Amino acid sequence: MFITFEGIDHCGKSTQVKLLENYFINEKGLDVINIREPGGTGISEKIRTILLDKKISDMKIETEILLFSASRAQLVREVIKPGLEQGKVVISDRFHDSTTAYQGYGRGIPLEYINTINSFAIAGCVPDITFIIDIDLETAEERKKSKNSVPDRMEIAGREFFERVRNGYREIARTHKRFVLIDGKDEIGIIKNRIIEEVKKRF
Ligand code: TYD
Repeated sequence: MFITFEGIDHCGKSTQVKLLENYFINEKGLDVINIREPGGTGISEKIRTILLDKKISDMKIETEILLFSASRAQLVREVIKPGLEQGKVVISDRFHDSTTAYQGYGRGIPLEYINTINSFAIAGCVPDITFIIDIDLETAEERKKSKNSVPDRMEIAGREFFERVRNGYREIARTHKRFVLIDGKDEIGIIKNRIIEEVKKRF
């Protein structure tokens, strides 16, 4: 079982990843691999450092997409595929749909390139379910302020960029039945129950 979570920064997906992991471990007694992208292997974590380093101000969008995809290619082959083959549940905080939303809709790289690069990187490892947690930009900005966190290289992109990313996700959500669009403004417990219900329905 391979489950991914998507959405714009501060949508609340990391909280839900943790809650779903607890559900699988404590209530189902399953082995879970919990990863986040970019990252999850030695090589991928090094690539993550480059990607999120806000001292790097001149990264070309072509370099950006190839680095995200290189990180993912390593993660798929080193962690995700072997984990699934051993019957584990794999939950990933972001996966290739982030590339479609951020580099495709956000940065404007043509979707035909995105699809080809994504297929090459994931080698058939398509998630069984992808939860897209949707919030508006105002809510994302309020949460960002209240957390007082230092923005990374991706987060310093302007509001219009994130508006395109959000709309991209909403569009992607309509393209396939593996996507479940969730209202991220609902209460944490309600979102959690909705996610578990959906998982039960599909497995
Ligand atoms: P991270 O700190 O993990 O953010 P979050 O908690 O929101 O997931 O940083 C990852 C950033 O990289 C985030 O802004 C989204 C972006 N990203 C892409 O632009 N393309 C991708 O393919 C991936 C995986 C992430």
